[in-house]
Amino acid sequence: MNASEIRQKFLEYQTSRGHQVIAPARLVLENDPTTLFTGSGMQPLLPYLLGEPHPAGQRLADSQPCLRLQDIEDVGDPRHTTVFEMLGNWSLGDYFKQEQIPAFFKFLTEIVGLDPHKIYVTCFIGNEKYGIPKDTESAEIWQRVFAEAGVHAEIAEIGSSEDGAKRGIKENEHIFFYDDHENWWSRGGGVETTPIGDPCGPDSEVFYDFGEENHDPSYGEAHPASDSGRFMEIGNQVFMQYHRLEDGSFEPLENKNVDFGGGLERIAAAKMGSSDVFKVSLLKPIIDKIEEISGSKYAENTKSMRIIADHLRSATFLAV
Ligand code: ALA
Repeated sequence: MNASEIRQKFLEYQTSRGHQVIAPARLVLENDPTTLFTGSGMQPLLPYLLGEPHPAGQRLADSQPCLRLQDIEDVGDPRHTTVFEMLGNWSLGDYFKQEQIPAFFKFLTEIVGLDPHKIYVTCFIGNEKYGIPKDTESAEIWQRVFAEAGVHAEIAEIGSSEDGAKRGIKENEHIFFYDDHENWWSRGGGVETTPIGDPCGPDSEVFYDFGEENHDPSYGEAHPASDSGRFMEIGNQVFMQYHRLEDGSFEPLENKNVDFGGGLERIAAAKMGSSDVFKVSLLKPIIDKIEEISGSKYAENTKSMRIIADHLRSATFLAV
């Protein structure tokens, strides 16, 4: 199953779950002065996530090309590209964690066919200062869906990414609690910097394990929220369930939203069993052409060919 087939399967699956497939936005956003380029699937949907009714209903899905120039210095490693496609589905005040988590797990394991033993997930550890509880609800749902797939998934408390690099992971652990740097979503980043009046909430990220042989020990011990190369994030589920009040505190939202985004190229890399996204069907033809024109080999010029391929692709996406 190549990347285009994964995109098609995702949109068909979301349609069968009652979602309307909407057209992706342009890379250069209209009427959004906050940012130069579309950087995630939720960005064009922000007014609807903030409460405006969407004309296509409460269940939406798409595949949104995104451009993240903040990642440009990382291009050259196996997994970063400036342009990528984000598979997305949204619940605008409709379903929540109980439906989202099993549905994404089913997509990965039954439709794409990834090995559930190679899937690792993260959840929000909570914030005592603001009385935001640990997201045990998501962790319990994860534990159940793993068990149904025959995986005994234990839960680990990590904290910060630095704590993870010291501790590493233990046998059977698949569910990891991290702090708000890893598992909190707001327009302002962490809990403390969540803008007054805004919706926000915990998120639950999904990682694929490419094996110990891909781990770079200079990052410390391997753990999911690490750039060491062993684990690669393939999807993120944001659960908007709070909003921030004038006095700085957080209160549960009446209408909760789900904002899911999955990296198409990365899911395709997981399916292929190689952590090099430049080998997936959307990027490999560009590398092949660069080899042909230059008469050089990708294996000997990996970093520079990745950079050329990525920038060619970004420039093309920007031009159309
Ligand atoms: N909007 C979420 C993200 O970018 C899904 O991770």
